[in-house]
Amino acid sequence: MKIQPIRGTHDIFGEDLLLYKFIKNLISNLAEIYDYRQIITPIFEDTNLFKKPLGEDSDVVLKEMYSFKDRNDSFLTLRPEYTTPMIRAAISNNLLSKLPIKLFGIGPMFRRERPQKGRYRQFNQINFEILGTDDSFSDTEIITLADRFLQQLVSKEKFTLFINSLGEKNTINKYKIILTKYFEKYMSDLSKESQSKIATNPLRILDSDNPLDIKISKDAPKIKDLYSIESQRKFEQVKNLLDKLKVKFKIDEKLVRGLDYYCHTVFEFKSNTDESQNTLIGGGRYDGLIKLLGGPDTPGVGWASGIERLMHLSKKINFQPATVNVIILDEKYKEFAVQLIHALRENKIKTTFDYKYNLKKSLSNASANKVPYVVIIGEDEYQNNKYTFKKLSEGTQSVISLEEIINKLKK
Ligand code: HAM
Repeated sequence: MKIQPIRGTHDIFGEDLLLYKFIKNLISNLAEIYDYRQIITPIFEDTNLFKKPLGEDSDVVLKEMYSFKDRNDSFLTLRPEYTTPMIRAAISNNLLSKLPIKLFGIGPMFRRERPQKGRYRQFNQINFEILGTDDSFSDTEIITLADRFLQQLVSKEKFTLFINSLGEKNTINKYKIILTKYFEKYMSDLSKESQSKIATNPLRILDSDNPLDIKISKDAPKIKDLYSIESQRKFEQVKNLLDKLKVKFKIDEKLVRGLDYYCHTVFEFKSNTDESQNTLIGGGRYDGLIKLLGGPDTPGVGWASGIERLMHLSKKINFQPATVNVIILDEKYKEFAVQLIHALRENKIKTTFDYKYNLKKSLSNASANKVPYVVIIGEDEYQNNKYTFKKLSEGTQSVISLEEIINKLKK
C-alpha cells in the first residue's frame, strides 16, 4: 500500500493551498484594519496549561489531547487550542502591563477526535483575543470582525450567527447544579454519552445532537432565568450594538460551548448546511481565565475558526498560469536559452520551461496549461540572437529581440 499521512491529518497543496493562503491573507488584512498584533507561540506547552482552564471534564481534556512525557519526566501537550497559549505568552512576556491588548494568531492545533469531513486531528486555526476589557463593545467588535471575515469569504446566506449569554461564573455553577438535578430525573432515557455527563458536565447535554437528549433538553431549566441584573444588562448591550452594526444574529439558549472557561457572551457562526461539522467560528468571553493562568484579574473575549472548514465552503481559486513558455528545439541551444529565461524572470515575468526540447510536446503543454505566449529557440534564433515570439490564442508570431519580448509582456 502507498505510504499515507497519519489518520486525521492531511497535506495541503495545489489549488487548496491557494485558497488556504487567500484565507490567511484576508484575515491578516482585516487584523491590520481592526488593529490586532500577531503572535506566534510554540506548538507544545506544559500539559497543565490546558487541564484546568479547558475543564478536567471537557471532551478535549478527557479524550483529545496529544500529551506525552518528555525525557525529563515533564508532561507536554500539542496545543489543542490557542486561547490559553496566547494568554500564557502575554503573561510570560509582560504584555499585560498596558491593557487592553488585541492579539491574533494562525497555526496548527491538535485534537484526537474521530476524523470525518471538517474534523481533523491536526487542523489550522485562526484565533483572535482582546485581553483586558469587559466593555460590551469588545464583544461586539470581535463578533463583527468575524462576520465581516465570513462575508468576504462566503456569501451571507450561507451562515448564521448564534449567540447566548452564560451569565457570571457563579451563575454557570448554580445552573450546572440545577441541570444535574433535572437530568438525573431522566437518567435512563438519556443517551449513554449524556448519562456520563450528568454529574460532571451537564451543560454539554444541552447541545447533544442525539434525538432523545434533544427531547429531554427541551424542558430543561433555562440559564436566562438565573441572570443577574448586570449580566442581563451586558447581554442587552451586546445585542443592541450588534443591531446597530447590522450584524444579524439568532439567540440560541442552548449554546454553551465545549470549553470550561466561558462566561457572559458566547457565540458560534454555523454554516447553513446539514453537515455535522458545521461550526465555522466559535468563541466568547472568558473573564477569570487570565487570573487562573497566573496573570492579573482582567477579563477577555475572543474566537477561533478552523481554516479547513472555511475552505470547504469557499469558492475554489485557480492557479495563475505562467505568462510565457520557453521552447528550446535542441539541447545545443541550452546555454543561449537559459539566459533568456533568466532575463524574463529577472523582469518579473512568470516564465516556465518543461525540459522537453520538443516543439510538439511543449506546444501542447503550453495550451493545456493555458499559457498565453511561447518563445521558440532553434538554429535561426541562435544565429541571429532573436527569438520567435508567438501568441497562442491568435496564432500570430514574430521574430524579435529580448528587449521587445520584455516590453510586450510587461505591458
Ligand atoms: P472551539 O470551538 O473548540 O473553540 O474551536 C473553534 C473552531 O475551530 C471550531 O468552530 C472549528 O471551526 C475549528 N475546529 C475545532 N476542532 C476542529 C477539528 N478537529 N478539525 C477542524 N476544525 C476544528 C476554541 O478553540 C476556542 N479557543 C475559541 C476561542 C478563542 N474562545 C475564545 N477565544
